[in-house]
This record gives sequence, structure tokens and C-alpha cells, in this order.
Amino acid sequence: MTYQNIILEHAEAGKISVLTVNRPQALNALNAATLDDLASALARVAADAEVRVLLITGAGEKAFIAGADITAMRAMSALEAQAFSEKGQRVMQAIEALPIPVIALVNGYALGGGCELAMSCDWIIAAERAVFGQPEVNLGIPPGFGGTQRLSRLVGRARALELVVTGRQVKADEALRIGLVNEVVPPEQLTEKGLATARLIAAKAPVAVRVSKQAVQRGLDLDLANGCVLETSLFAFAFGTADRQEGMTAFVEKRAPKFEGK
Ligand code: CAA
Repeated sequence: MTYQNIILEHAEAGKISVLTVNRPQALNALNAATLDDLASALARVAADAEVRVLLITGAGEKAFIAGADITAMRAMSALEAQAFSEKGQRVMQAIEALPIPVIALVNGYALGGGCELAMSCDWIIAAERAVFGQPEVNLGIPPGFGGTQRLSRLVGRARALELVVTGRQVKADEALRIGLVNEVVPPEQLTEKGLATARLIAAKAPVAVRVSKQAVQRGLDLDLANGCVLETSLFAFAFGTADRQEGMTAFVEKRAPKFEGK
């Protein structure tokens, strides 16, 4: 399948997918066509049982994604803006809903919709030159692809509100300090760092990885007691897999396990 504004590639015999937003002439800004491309690529990744990890990045040296497309938004009515926001929200939710870990590799500007997309991933690895922010107030609007919700959940209410109402942009080192990103690496090491992390995950028992994501993600919407009940159910479920037998047998036999995702 060919896309207009994204590239979907596979590495490690199809175990790692790499999705690149590819509109470098507009710093990978998200217009409706790009959101449609993202939605269909995410559906494809979701349907592919071989894929263990998804990496999302932006084309070019300068930007991850510089936001929603301002040129396109300029002509929108309130109703069109509502539909555009809902389209963007659906893409962000589709990223979160993937059963496999999704890592954002932020190579440059991640502003507005770009910061929102990165925050929809399970975690972010940033290049030293990365810049994050929700600068929408400069345009007369609030964030519209989930920024007011996910930023506060990641960095806390006070920091999120300060960033949203001032539009202040933060560099990679501050993003690391406030917990917006997990790791900062030199730009030339970003892809390799992402692939190395993905390889590490792809070598683990696939069902255990998926239910671990489910437990952490869904558990955050529950109180602690119910979250622990969810964990027990998923723990017991994993005991029914062949990979659980293989993992424990390999440990006892002092050899490396061979997981098959069953
Ligand atoms: N939408 C459309 N085009 C964009 C864009 C965006 N968000 N960001 C950059 N571009 C385009 C520029 O218009 C320019 O195009 P031309 O060459 O045709 O003029 C090209 O990308 C290169 O950009 P600059 O010349 O501006 O590059 P720079 O290095 O001088 O500045 C920047 C880089 C600081 C990221 C600057 O481009 C910028 O501030 N971009 C807008 C950032 C922004 O406000 N993002 C939030 C958008 S609103 C949003 O996302 C709402 C939401 O939550 C859904």
C-alpha cells in the first residue's frame, strides 16, 4: 500500500515497524490527508500479528511534527475544526490502543499536534535538539488533539497548564527532567537507539509484553485494588501460553528461551 505523507517500513523480519511522517516541506505538519494515512497505517500495524513494536518518527533533520497544519486550519469553520479535532483524536487513540509498545523517536520540533502525537506513544526517546511545546495559544486556539489531557497526565497539572497557557517550548534536557521523555540521545544515535530498544522488546515473550502494556495502561484508569485484580487476571492468563512454559523451562535448563507468541 502506498501513502501520500507517511512511510511504513518493517525491520527485523517484520517484527519492528517504523512509521515516518513524511512532509518535510511543511515540517511534517498534520493535515487531514496525513491523519488519514496515519489511521490506515495504524490499522495495518494493528492487524499484523508479527509486529512486536512500532517506532514513530518524522522525516528530515528539523522536525518530528511541527503541529497540525496551520495553513489548512486557517480556512476552517468551527464545525470543520470540530471534525478535524475528532479526526486527530481518533489517530491519537488508535496509537494508544495498539496492543504493542509504541515509541516516539523525536528528532526535532514536536509542537502542538506533534507533541500530542508523541505523547500518545507509550514513551518518547528524544534527540538532543528536540523541542516540545503546545504553542496553540499563539494562534488563538487551545490544543485540539489531546494535549490538555495527556500533558497533564504525563507531567502533572501545574507544569502542563503553565506550558499550555504560555506556549513556552522546552528543550530535550528540560523534557527529560519533567518526565515528558524517557531518554535523550545525540541526533545521530536516535534511530539506532530506537531500533535497539525495539529489538530488546521483540526478543521477549510477545503475549507477556502485550498484557504488560494492557495492565499498566488500563490500570491507570482504575483504583489500586481493581488495578491489582486486573493484573492477577492477566498474570493467570499468561500462564496458559506456551511461551510461559518455554520461558520457565529455559530458565531451569540454563538456556536462552525461544518465544513464539503462543
Ligand atoms: N503547519 C503548516 N505549515 C508549517 C507548520 C505547521 N504547523 N510548521 C511549519 N510549517 C511550514 C512553514 O510554513 C514553512 O513553509 P514554507 O517554507 O512554505 O514557508 C516550512 O514549514 C518551514 O517552516 P519555517 O520556515 O517556519 O521554519 P523555521 O525553522 O523558521 O521555524 C518552527 C520552525 C519554529 C517549528 C515554525 O515553523 C513554527 O513555529 N511552526 C508552527 C508551530 C505551531 O504553532 N504548531 C502548532 C500548530 S496548531 C496545533 O497543532 C493544533 C492542535 O493541537 C491540533
